[in-house]
Amino acid sequence: MSTVANASQGLNKDLGYKAHSIGGFRFERDEYFAHIFYPGGRHLIPVDAFLRALMRDVAWGFFYGTVNFDNVFGTVNHYGTVEMFVGLFNEAYRGSNRHHVETFESKDLKKVFDEMLDDWTNEGFDPFAAPDETGLVFGPKKGNNTAAIRRQRLVADRMVGLPGDLTFRTDPQNRQLADVPTDKPGVFAEPGFENDVHAFNFFDYLSRSDVTWNPSVVSCVKDSQFCATTEEHILPITHGNDRVEWFIQATDEIIWDIDDRGTGKPRSKVVMRAGDVAAMPADIRHRGYSPKRSILIVWENNDSTLPQLYASGKVAPYPVEF
Ligand code: PHB
Ligand code: FE
Repeated sequence: MSTVANASQGLNKDLGYKAHSIGGFRFERDEYFAHIFYPGGRHLIPVDAFLRALMRDVAWGFFYGTVNFDNVFGTVNHYGTVEMFVGLFNEAYRGSNRHHVETFESKDLKKVFDEMLDDWTNEGFDPFAAPDETGLVFGPKKGNNTAAIRRQRLVADRMVGLPGDLTFRTDPQNRQLADVPTDKPGVFAEPGFENDVHAFNFFDYLSRSDVTWNPSVVSCVKDSQFCATTEEHILPITHGNDRVEWFIQATDEIIWDIDDRGTGKPRSKVVMRAGDVAAMPADIRHRGYSPKRSILIVWENNDSTLPQLYASGKVAPYPVEF
């Protein structure tokens, strides 16, 4: 029997998980793997890696540019529509014309991804948590963890800690960020401004985060978005941005694999230590490794005209000419 015939039959085990389909794609899971069936072939990804990547893709609304789950499968955001692909950014698939791409309304794909994530995430497994801080994902279906996958971002009206606004986090410091100082800044407001002037220790705040690899907007001035995040283990996606993006390593160390955005060919390794700043070009893809939990600031430019400027070559893929 040919590969294609097998693919069209799918898996014939009932482990309690549903199959999820959209367009020509069908997703099935077994004890260990997510199986992706598409016209012309099949692909599989270890289910822990798949669910961690899927969690980010839906939580970030398909993010900026390309979200590669691995070297073969992923999504490209066109801000309203989204492409789902097999082999689109893989030289070997492209070279033998074995790639496959379909375009969906973002809301339609998000609905399928949301349902699949909820259905396939077992009780005790938190796809946002570091591997050492969560239970196992493998085996037949066992309950769910809807609370973990539907986390809502906390949104302050003005600022955390101001009267009537969000209060400072009460979660404990993370076990690996217990060395982060918790002293509070002195605030000396002019009389009459006590309700408007405030400061808190942002390192202390971040050291209490219970999620990994999830940049959250902490300040937004026009299109400038500063996004802080705590990192441990591996960035669950390989990000191919459609614009330049900056990293500021605030504590500890992350090692980045930088590959060509289109082909996946390795371009460099970047080791970022506390205090290092890097501009990630618009023609690469990257994946980070954080051996110990660390704090990273991701600085994104939200200007919607940028993807076209980079794609057309009107602006260079890097911010500075040395
Ligand atoms: C990135 O792709 O730039 C990225 C994504 C998530 C993170 C950090 C960096 O937590
Ligand atoms: Fe990125």
